[in-house]
Amino acid sequence: MNISRSVFLLVLALSFCVSFGALSSIFDVTSTSEDFITCLQSNSNNVTTISQLVFTPANTSYIPVWQAAADPIRFNKSYIPKPSVIVTPTDETQIQTALLCAKKHGYEFRIRDGGHDFEGNSYTANAPFVMLDLVHMRAIEINVENRTALVQGGALLGELYYTISQKTDTLYFPAGIWAGVGVSGFLSGGGYGNLLRKYGLGADNVLDIRFMDVNGNILDRKSMGEDLFWALRGGGASSFGIVLQWKLNLVPVPERVTLFMVSYTLEQGATDIFHKYQYVLPKFDRDLLIRVQLNTEYIGNTTQKTVRILFHGIYQGNIDTLLPLLNQSFPELNVTREVCQEVRMVQTTLEFGGFNISTPTSVLANRSAIPKLSFKGKSDYVRTPIPRSGLRKLWRKMFENDNSQTLFMYTFGGKMEEYSDTAIPYPHRAGVLYQVFKRVDFVDQPSDKTLISLRRLAWLRSFDKTLEPYVTSNPREAYMNYNDLDLGFDSATYEEASEWGERYWKRENFKKLIRIKAKVDPENFFRHPQSIPVFSRPLSDM
Ligand SMILES: Cc1cc2nc3c(=O)[nH]c(=O)nc-3n(C[C@H](O)[C@H](O)[C@H](O)COP(=O)(O)OP(=O)(O)OC[C@H]3O[C@@H](n4cnc5c(N)ncnc54)[C@H](O)[C@@H]3O)c2cc1C
Ligand SMILES: *[C@@H]1O[C@H](CO)[C@@H](O)[C@H](O)[C@H]1NC(C)=O
Ligand SMILES: *[C@@H]1O[C@H](CO)[C@@H](O)[C@H](O)[C@H]1NC(C)=O
Ligand SMILES: *[C@@H]1O[C@H](CO)[C@@H](O)[C@H](O)[C@H]1NC(C)=O
Ligand SMILES: *[C@@H]1O[C@H](CO)[C@@H](O)[C@H](O)[C@H]1NC(C)=O
Ligand SMILES: *[C@@H]1O[C@H](CO)[C@@H](O)[C@H](O)[C@H]1NC(C)=O
Ligand SMILES: *[C@@H]1O[C@H](CO)[C@@H](O)[C@H](O)[C@H]1NC(C)=O
Ligand SMILES: *[C@@H]1O[C@H](CO)[C@@H](O)[C@H](O)[C@H]1NC(C)=O
Ligand SMILES: *[C@@H]1O[C@H](CO)[C@@H](O)[C@H](O)[C@H]1NC(C)=O
Ligand SMILES: *[C@@H]1O[C@H](CO)[C@@H](O)[C@H](O)[C@H]1NC(C)=O
Repeated sequence: MNISRSVFLLVLALSFCVSFGALSSIFDVTSTSEDFITCLQSNSNNVTTISQLVFTPANTSYIPVWQAAADPIRFNKSYIPKPSVIVTPTDETQIQTALLCAKKHGYEFRIRDGGHDFEGNSYTANAPFVMLDLVHMRAIEINVENRTALVQGGALLGELYYTISQKTDTLYFPAGIWAGVGVSGFLSGGGYGNLLRKYGLGADNVLDIRFMDVNGNILDRKSMGEDLFWALRGGGASSFGIVLQWKLNLVPVPERVTLFMVSYTLEQGATDIFHKYQYVLPKFDRDLLIRVQLNTEYIGNTTQKTVRILFHGIYQGNIDTLLPLLNQSFPELNVTREVCQEVRMVQTTLEFGGFNISTPTSVLANRSAIPKLSFKGKSDYVRTPIPRSGLRKLWRKMFENDNSQTLFMYTFGGKMEEYSDTAIPYPHRAGVLYQVFKRVDFVDQPSDKTLISLRRLAWLRSFDKTLEPYVTSNPREAYMNYNDLDLGFDSATYEEASEWGERYWKRENFKKLIRIKAKVDPENFFRHPQSIPVFSRPLSDM
């Protein structure tokens, strides 16, 4: 099969780099990373094997290995702090050894799957750290009969989709739209995607987790208990330990689903259409999901700007069923047969993920083919439709930027209405009309530090203020997987931490996560700037 072949090729390519790296390593490693490596070697049953899986700045392949999954590439820069040692284990014993040696030698620890963390938390840190890169641990087993998948902690969404599609067109997993996103980061923050309105979040479809705790014990759902199992599905796994494998519930999809796209500018009535969208789509048949994309552009070749609003739809059924439904409740959207096509579910992932339906599906399992992005992003949730006057204010604010921003409104409702806010840590459920994701891009800039980049960042932060009256408040909800250090980090008190923690999880869930963290990792070994904090006083005192 293609995937196992490409994994094989990758391993082959890597072992080639390895011997080349060893020959050309002329630098000395620092004494501390030497201690760590000695610890690794003396706890391994095969020194040759482990040496080939460990990289320090002295190895020529260190930078390429680190860069391979540093996406958003905003952080792929020489000035970004890098790990003292990278470990790329091939089995669980090696993970255990790396963990115990990092603890013993006082390193911080970072775990990387797809490397799509918005703030680079999986591959950069402000203290000496060991990076555990799960790139070799991405086996995927699909069980069609029982509709389950076993997915190792280092797999990517694209690899999961492709592997499912090699077995069947009528099962899928309700995950995100970008092939390069890691299954582990995605699921441990909740994880939404094109099947959200029908089947809920990715994390709602996790059946079991194989997990390593801070002492190197390997646990499953039964032995970890329901509290920790709850926390790992939306609370961010990297606050608690290492996910080795996910057991997932696959969901049925039709052999052919319908894709469509229409777009309108302000001159074509986009404001009214978007205004109506807010009332109609969140309550619509849950087989339909629409992602709305908003950009600014110049009108023709003038210097006058407009907003273009693009409605990208995916319907779990055929064109003939969809058209009358939409024509009845939302004729203004003018979805006609000409803008629709029936495709396999896996092709919709291509279409939404930077490719198109003609691209061979194998591209989803090819890490180097996935486009690289460079941006700063932020999220919000809308529970009350924004009035037309508010929309016009947003458009005017958007005109102030240089067209480098994109807004995505992701329709909620449907199945999401059926979960309580405390079912898992992810609390943005019943009553949410849509999620807002806004970003400014730096792809055309050498870094996020240029004058132009800084101006875009400043615009994004001021746009947040313009949005404030129209989005949720107390707390102003934000998506943990769109982590944003502007909200605060490294907080010493609950009050400080609540500034970001209650936005990601709301108070009840955040407090529960803090209690679980205190039990599972009381020394706070698994930490990063926005990990679940450990306080010296118990929570009830606060
Ligand atoms: C281009 C792009 C598109 C996106 N699209 C979507 C989308 O459609 N839907 C959605 O919900 N989100 C989306 N996201 C957000 C995405 O879910 C998060 O960025 C997610 O954390 C990325 O996971 P990762 O494994 O790729 O990242 P990583 O940077 O590898 O990890 C993210 C976090 O998870 C931790 N982690 C990773 N692996 C493990 C493990 N095995 N055990 C414990 N902790 C682990 C890391 O330490 C880090 O804290 C998108 C992000 C980007 C950049
Ligand atoms: C990195 O360099 C060290 C020291 O030369 C060597 O032992 C090790 O095998 C190298 N690692 C890789 C992956 O090449
Ligand atoms: C260690 O592993 C290598 C392959 O990585 C193998 O060639 C060698 O025989 C092994 N050594 C021992 C002692 O098992
Ligand atoms: C990271 O930057 C280097 C140049 O510094 C570039 O060669 C490499 O392709 C980049 N990696 C990614 C993933 O963009
Ligand atoms: C599916 O589950 C049933 C019941 O647990 C089991 O008997 C059967 O072997 C499973 N099928 C496969 C293909 O794993
Ligand atoms: C811009 O538009 C005007 C009128 O629509 C046209 O005459 C002119 O050629 C255009 N200029 C360019 C550079 O396309
Ligand atoms: C919607 O239905 C009306 C009445 O049947 C019809 O005239 C119109 O063409 C339809 N519009 C679309 C976009 O299908
Ligand atoms: C609806 O879309 C069709 C093309 O799909 C187009 O011909 C028609 O003019 C549009 N109608 C309206 C009212 O925009
Ligand atoms: C589809 O994507 C491929 C690359 O994957 C590209 O070569 C082709 O031109 C695209 N086709 C269309 C219609 O955009
Ligand atoms: C993966 O994608 C890269 C970049 O597009 C391409 O060069 C390479 O041939 C692809 N590999 C496979 C196995 O398809």
